[in-house]
Amino acid sequence: MMKLFVVAFLLLLQLHQTTTKHDHQTKSNGLMIKMIHRDSRKSPFYNPKLTLEDRVRRMNMRSEARISQLLIDNNLEKNVDAFQIIPFYGYEFLVPLKIGTPPVPQILVMDTGSLLLWVHCGYTEGGERSPYPLYIYSHSSSYIEDVFCETPMCELIMLKGKCGRDSKRCEYTYRYVTGMTRGNLASEVFTFQSPNGTDVTMNKRLMFGCSSILSKGANRLFQLNHTGFSYCIGNINDEDYYSNTLVLGGEPIIMEDSTPMFMVIGKYYITLEKISVGDKFLDINSSIFKRVNYEGGMLVDSGTTSTYLPDIAFNKLKEEIRFVIGTTLKEHISSRQGELCYHGTINQDIKIFPPIAFHFIENAALKFDAQNLFRQDETDYFCLSVQSTDSDWLSQKLPFSILGIWAQQFYYIAFDINMMRMSFTKIDCDILYD
Ligand SMILES: *[C@@H]1O[C@H](CO)[C@@H](O)[C@H](O)[C@H]1NC(C)=O
Ligand SMILES: *[C@@H]1O[C@H](CO)[C@@H](O)[C@H](O)[C@H]1NC(C)=O
Ligand SMILES: *[C@@H]1O[C@H](CO)[C@@H](O)[C@H](O)[C@H]1NC(C)=O
Repeated sequence: MMKLFVVAFLLLLQLHQTTTKHDHQTKSNGLMIKMIHRDSRKSPFYNPKLTLEDRVRRMNMRSEARISQLLIDNNLEKNVDAFQIIPFYGYEFLVPLKIGTPPVPQILVMDTGSLLLWVHCGYTEGGERSPYPLYIYSHSSSYIEDVFCETPMCELIMLKGKCGRDSKRCEYTYRYVTGMTRGNLASEVFTFQSPNGTDVTMNKRLMFGCSSILSKGANRLFQLNHTGFSYCIGNINDEDYYSNTLVLGGEPIIMEDSTPMFMVIGKYYITLEKISVGDKFLDINSSIFKRVNYEGGMLVDSGTTSTYLPDIAFNKLKEEIRFVIGTTLKEHISSRQGELCYHGTINQDIKIFPPIAFHFIENAALKFDAQNLFRQDETDYFCLSVQSTDSDWLSQKLPFSILGIWAQQFYYIAFDINMMRMSFTKIDCDILYD
């Protein structure tokens, strides 16, 4: 049997407005990188034998594993010294890149739920093998341990770096659920694929941590500062879709509706206020959406499939959708209690559907149509991709709402970390390349 080992990187990008003309420029001065969905044809995890239904089923399973992790993280809010740093499960989008000199191909796991990007190399606990060789820092001529203690980077709250015993190097230690990681901060050169397919080596060195996970072999950790990032997600069902994009740093390219965001243990939350179906606002007391005493708020996540709403809000939304659809479609009784499903296919059977919108504070709205509200779970039925935080199949009641990736399809979402605002703009991701 092959020995399993775990290697992961986490990356917090430090991209101020200092990208140079050698870097790929966008209208925002950020770095624009293609992201691939893990089930797309270009993904190293692509499995041509899977049907659309298989993929949806697997995505839902990953999503549930991810929710279990989010629950663990949330409990750790009360104990900020320890938190889960490695998303072994439940990631959906990957960013191919190369690290070091000579550049070694790696793949990052995009995790907006935690502002971190992870390099997946070696095996994950889920047993999937990374097709790429390990990045070994001693083989790279551009690896330098040049981050010193008492610098802002070292004192970054998430890192809690300390002075090395014998040097002024920045050392950090993380405990997490299944182990511990410890190491020095260092910097390295990164190479991304530009939208036209050529490799672009960033002029700016990015900081990261080099560490070992005790008891689990080698591990490295990236941690870099950034002022903002944004991303655009297109059709997840389309395995040939290749315009999902991650933009690191810089100003948002487009910024329409925006709403204040806040951070809880490295994850970004926003506050829902109202839900509308057509012209009608559902009768929900908006205080149920606010975050108070470690509960509430809506986590904008890149690994959870469905959107989760507090039970009261979910039931009001479900009833209204049922009312609107009426008898035009036959309900499918889901094996999951409370889930709303219909017989038929989304493309053929939902002809007219009222716009459904989530309204966040300060009037930012996320508008859904049938495509990003319903999911074709099987060939003959589809389900609402919104569920209750108090669903039977969750190991416990979710203490917060989640905006899942299904609902984020066809949106450009920008996270402005300086202003602590998030914005949503409905676009075709291809326009970012015009
Ligand atoms: C591809 O894009 C990069 C970065 O924007 C640019 O430097 C390069 O000249 C482009 N190459 C081609 C063949 O267009
Ligand atoms: C991160 O970036 C912000 C904005 O540019 C800056 O104010 C802050 O000092 C930086 N933090 C570190 C640790 O470099
Ligand atoms: C909404 O709920 C809060 C807290 O339970 C309560 O104080 C407030 O009066 C409610 N507002 C309305 C309009 O019912």
